[in-house]
Amino acid sequence: MKAAYINEPGPPENIIVGDLPVPEPTSTQVLVQVAATDVNPIDTYIRSGAIAMQLPRPYIVGCDLAGTVKKLGADARRFRAGDRVWGSNQGLMGRQGTFAEYAAVDESWLYPIPAGVSDEAAAACSLVGITAYLGLVRDAKLQSGELLFINGGTGGVGSMVVQMARAIGARVITTAGTDDKVAACRELGADLAINYKTEDVAARVKEFAPKGVNLWWETLREPNFDQTVELLAPRGRMVLMAGRDARPPFPVGPFYVKDCRLFGFAMFNATPEQQRAAAADINLWLAGGQLKPRIDRVLPLAETAAAHRLQEESTVGRSGTLAGKIVVRP
Ligand SMILES: NC(=O)c1ccc[n+]([C@@H]2O[C@H](COP(=O)([O-])OP(=O)(O)OC[C@H]3O[C@@H](n4cnc5c(N)ncnc54)[C@H](OP(=O)(O)O)[C@@H]3O)[C@@H](O)[C@H]2O)c1
Repeated sequence: MKAAYINEPGPPENIIVGDLPVPEPTSTQVLVQVAATDVNPIDTYIRSGAIAMQLPRPYIVGCDLAGTVKKLGADARRFRAGDRVWGSNQGLMGRQGTFAEYAAVDESWLYPIPAGVSDEAAAACSLVGITAYLGLVRDAKLQSGELLFINGGTGGVGSMVVQMARAIGARVITTAGTDDKVAACRELGADLAINYKTEDVAARVKEFAPKGVNLWWETLREPNFDQTVELLAPRGRMVLMAGRDARPPFPVGPFYVKDCRLFGFAMFNATPEQQRAAAADINLWLAGGQLKPRIDRVLPLAETAAAHRLQEESTVGRSGTLAGKIVVRP
């Protein structure tokens, strides 16, 4: 089969697109013929070696997949050959990745694709959708009628958080770096979308929400806690999930005297049961049209190195080139 893999961590040029054996599903694994996958920032951190993770060699890059079940391991019970499935959390913790024509994946990480939902859409919302759900529902327990703020409303995670928060019945403030992206945020359902390059974000938030924000989801890799804590409502919550190297100052006094709370998480620590609960609601929202993954572009497997470079420039280099996910078709 064709696969995009590395023998050693390093720059995007280390990615080889070549032939590897089709994996044989063992035990509770399922062999999926991959129709679509997508790039997440973590793919680039693992490929570069910025996150030191135990890797099979060769290591096929990528976490997400959508496709069709072709074969079952001897103990696999959840699916049948021919079922359309999506999943995430591959290529992590020693598991093989997904940028290949076939992937052998444990059935506990796979979910049915609802009728009428494309493989591209299912792949594009997998890691980012599960991430958004874990932060909003499992951890911060966002309630209908609450007010949420998130930076980067057209980003991979941001666009999922905006739409899920609206589906839950919350009001949403978000930001983006161009007027076109600001308009896209409104189309996703944001009640207030602010251009963070041309407007005073704090002033606009204060004007819109004089009593403060109930839940602040921070996607920035360098959070500004002084500003955020000031904009939180009493008993406000904050979600942190980016910026491994960030060590910003934290305003302890203003935080605790407002009874605020802070949640931090990495999606790959979530159990298969927690991720399956996320997938069940994501499937309902995908089928109902409340969740529409933002796909920036679709590339062939041969362009995996270019896709990594683009994701890195946009997320880490903050070029803002992307406005959604890069989907890759094996
Ligand atoms: N903890 C976890 O489990 C987990 C899971 C997924 C992702 N992450 C991390 O979360 C971060 C975001 O991931 P992603 O996939 O959403 O990346 P992404 O698609 O590149 O989105 C990044 C967003 O940040 C916005 N942004 C950049 N600079 C900004 C600024 N100064 N003010 C406001 N917004 C700004 C961008 O807006 P414009 O494009 O409009 O400039 C863009 O929407 C990454 O660091 C990733 O590693 C963590």
